[in-house]
Amino acid sequence: MGKIVAANWKMNLRRQSGCELASALKNDGRDCWLFPAYPHLALVHDALIGGALKLGAQDVSPEEDGAFTGDVSAEMLADAGCTLVLVGHSERRHGHGEHGATLLLKLKRALRAGLKPVYCVGETLAERKDGKAREVVTEHLATLIELAAPDRNELAAVAYEPVWAIGTGETATPEQAGEMHAFIRGELAKHGMKSLPILYGGSVKPENARDLMTQPNVDGVLVGGASLELESLRAIDDVAREM
Ligand code: PGA
Repeated sequence: MGKIVAANWKMNLRRQSGCELASALKNDGRDCWLFPAYPHLALVHDALIGGALKLGAQDVSPEEDGAFTGDVSAEMLADAGCTLVLVGHSERRHGHGEHGATLLLKLKRALRAGLKPVYCVGETLAERKDGKAREVVTEHLATLIELAAPDRNELAAVAYEPVWAIGTGETATPEQAGEMHAFIRGELAKHGMKSLPILYGGSVKPENARDLMTQPNVDGVLVGGASLELESLRAIDDVAREM
């Protein structure tokens, strides 16, 4: 079966390093999901031809094509060869003030263009300390529930990414991840999304990938920093393939 390994390259790499990484993964026969930066999408797409990896964008405009300087539409992403897109990453929610209404539009645009969203949820450290982690995650999931029922089946995954664990080197313990994933599974099940994969993200590394992925409701991982190096991404994907 195997679990899902998604690589969020964020604002890193160059055309050459991205394509080299993509080609090496393809030549290995891997089937990870790659999320390069916009200017690299079409080239990485070409490097992946003939392989089993999937290509996605890190964000999408809530608007259709038109006068939106600096934005990239869902149709453009599909045209560049993407089949996936991240929506609601915490660096968009917190760094760019994106909230439910905008994220719902992004989801709808993506789905209309035939892209499958990976929808990210997760609490900050202050929210966890205040005992509000579940409340925040429930609020984030509420955006999905506003989608029409048939659209909910077109999502690729939900990613639980506790904000305090992203890029900090601090990982949720496998128990913390397992507990929140079980909660998310229950919430999704209430709305007809029981079998939607749930990924964990936040400082996933070769050293902690096994403990995280052996948790019952962790269907895979969304990896940032450790996905930029071929060896560490390979090591994480080796664990995922064994499962
Ligand atoms: P990280 O990023 O693995 O560098 O913590 C994960 C993410 O933000 O998707």
